[in-house]
Amino acid sequence: MNVLGIETSCDETAAAVVTTTGDAARPWRVGSNVIASQVDIHREWGGVVPEIASRQHVRDICGVVDSALAGAALAWADIDAIAVTQGPGLIGSLLVGVAFAKAAAAAIDRPIVAVHHLAGHIESIFLEHGAIPLPALILVVSGGHTSLYLVEEPGHYQLIGLTRDDAAGEAYDKVARLLGLGYPGGPAIDRRAALGRDDAVDLPQPRFTHRHRFALPEGLAHRTRTGRPLAEFSFSGLKTAVVRLLEARGVPIAQGPHVPTGESPLSEQDVSDICASFQRVVVESLVERTFDAARQLGARSVGIAGGVSANSRLRKDAAARGAREGLPVFVPPLALSTDNAAMIAAAGLRKIERGATSPFDFNALATFDIE
Ligand code: KG4
Ligand code: ZN
Repeated sequence: MNVLGIETSCDETAAAVVTTTGDAARPWRVGSNVIASQVDIHREWGGVVPEIASRQHVRDICGVVDSALAGAALAWADIDAIAVTQGPGLIGSLLVGVAFAKAAAAAIDRPIVAVHHLAGHIESIFLEHGAIPLPALILVVSGGHTSLYLVEEPGHYQLIGLTRDDAAGEAYDKVARLLGLGYPGGPAIDRRAALGRDDAVDLPQPRFTHRHRFALPEGLAHRTRTGRPLAEFSFSGLKTAVVRLLEARGVPIAQGPHVPTGESPLSEQDVSDICASFQRVVVESLVERTFDAARQLGARSVGIAGGVSANSRLRKDAAARGAREGLPVFVPPLALSTDNAAMIAAAGLRKIERGATSPFDFNALATFDIE
């Protein structure tokens, strides 16, 4: 079976073909994985501009899908189903992919499968590594999300933890902007951190009192099955700590969007030290809570997916912690960790295995939980 995946939730227009192999240990194979990134367009604005993103998706989608088919050496007639990201994401961007996918599925008379973006990130691990030991505790960590899911059986994702404020990738992007490192911030900070000392700057590790851990903010309580998260993350305080630190060092910062407004007195080494220290705190918090939850839930493996899973220190520290605790750690390759459509095709295949294709009247959704 050949599934065409389409992903347009943010600033990457992506299409891919994933094919079933018939091998239970490694059931899926990536036939092609094409991404048209808009990063160079949005960099000028310091972040993703939604209206520009959706217009660029319209320009790129036909060519990207054509190259995904060509890359897999397939014609439209060879496609058995189309999987598309329904959300969460930027609504205008999502609509381009959803409208394209519906039109294409109608034209070739094949089923369509609406996919949750985070189910895609989770399945990127299974796409790369096949049947990993279950239950698996999966950390999805990206620009929009920092969430923990327990996967007890394939295709069933139980939310057991999330961030109460910023996503980890969002914190990377904001801190990079403060340091004048440009957009996207994650890879820039990752590179600079390698040149700095991770204990040079004292930044607070986000901590929760017992009361915090077990009382979710209004509106989030219904999102975990028990109403009590096992794990929580928080990164907005860390960003504020970096703002305070920079102010104390005499960096002129405009309040509100928190952007530097003049010459920075920081040396190159100062910037690298702040990057390394910030990265240590973020990674320690991610690794600590993930492995904590894995232990409490009796997970037999740990997975890390999403854009921030590309982070070199997160990969290294999680692997080391897993080795210490005897828990195998699975991470997708770089091409599957940031947004892509192969993971969407994989999540689509997972739903198809359950017979769960979608009616044509489903709509794009800016926010919703994995069912
Ligand atoms: O999964 P993704 O491509 O898009 C979302 O669904 O959000 O993740 C993008 C995020 C951005 O915030 C980016 O700064 C971050 O992933 N990122 C990284 C690294 N590479 C990308 N963060 C830390 N270290 C990296 N090497
Ligand atoms: Zn993503």
